[in-house]
Amino acid sequence: MTLYVILILLILLQAGIIAFLIWQSRSDTKLMKSVSETTPESVRKFYNETTDKFLQVYGEIIQAFRTRDVADYLQYTLQSMDVREGMTVIDAGCGVCGPACYFAKQINDLKIHAVTVSDYQVQLAQQKIGEQGLAERVEVKQGDYQQLDKLYPEEFADRVFFLESFGHSNDKEQAILSAYRVLKPGGKLYIKDLFLRESNNEWEQQRINDIATQINLAYQYQICDLHQVVSAIRRAGFLIDFIRPPQVERDKFEHLTISNDFQNLFNIGKIESWDDYVFPVDFFEIRATKPEFNPSRDIHLYFMNRQDATQVVE
Ligand SMILES: C[S@@+](CC[C@H](N)C(=O)[O-])C[C@H]1O[C@@H](n2cnc3c(N)ncnc32)[C@H](O)[C@@H]1O
Repeated sequence: MTLYVILILLILLQAGIIAFLIWQSRSDTKLMKSVSETTPESVRKFYNETTDKFLQVYGEIIQAFRTRDVADYLQYTLQSMDVREGMTVIDAGCGVCGPACYFAKQINDLKIHAVTVSDYQVQLAQQKIGEQGLAERVEVKQGDYQQLDKLYPEEFADRVFFLESFGHSNDKEQAILSAYRVLKPGGKLYIKDLFLRESNNEWEQQRINDIATQINLAYQYQICDLHQVVSAIRRAGFLIDFIRPPQVERDKFEHLTISNDFQNLFNIGKIESWDDYVFPVDFFEIRATKPEFNPSRDIHLYFMNRQDATQVVE
């Protein structure tokens, strides 16, 4: 009888442990999706309604962190992404193709596949691409960048970049995995975005979180957690090239007045009081490389150049 009771207790304990582990793994993945529940559909609606306002203040480059002359920033971006002649690249979250058209004019024989979730932005982008005679070089379509592997073939692109667009994603893990699939071996993922700041001071951290939540709600955003994004990139199989603040010279930096103008003019995400305002984000750029070798097959390797890769395949 006692043995029977012990057995039942053991089974109950085991079931409890399993339930706890399932709950924990669910809340782990939930971290990548938390804060505000945006969806590609809610982001589509947001940009269909607000793109004209963004264009009015930001011009055709819809990025908050930039230099006063935005061309300097785009030039920097090209170098940082290591985009070169003859490459095929995917601009994930392309806005109205302001950056894409600029890049196409700077780099010979560059083919850009641009995707935005907003059908209105696609219309504007197509018009702009046509006017600039770039139809052969820049191709834009409506789609969800979290499903890049449904929009483009496997091992298709040399670069996949997200320029202040990644933070809209409600499934960042999936976005990274899909980017991995469409990249060629040796291809690079590049993300430039806002990342939640961190503080040891409890009050400060609470303010950071609260202000970030307001931004998320106002802009259909889910400000990135650096740890989670880096972890997802590494788990996907990428090797990190760098994580750093964009390397712009201080005197060229625009000091985010453009975002303040936007907030004031359109009352979107407006800062009501500076009294207890804590700047809530850092801007970082992350670049990572898809290895030349197959990381699940050649698990013993760390780096390998193209020559080595050919030898292993042979
Ligand atoms: C802040 S704008 C940046 C636009 C552009 N990268 C630029 O520099 O001008 C964010 C862009 O991400 C796009 N976006 C957000 N979520 C998306 C998704 N799930 N799939 C495709 N595009 C998305 C929006 O439609 C918008 O074009």
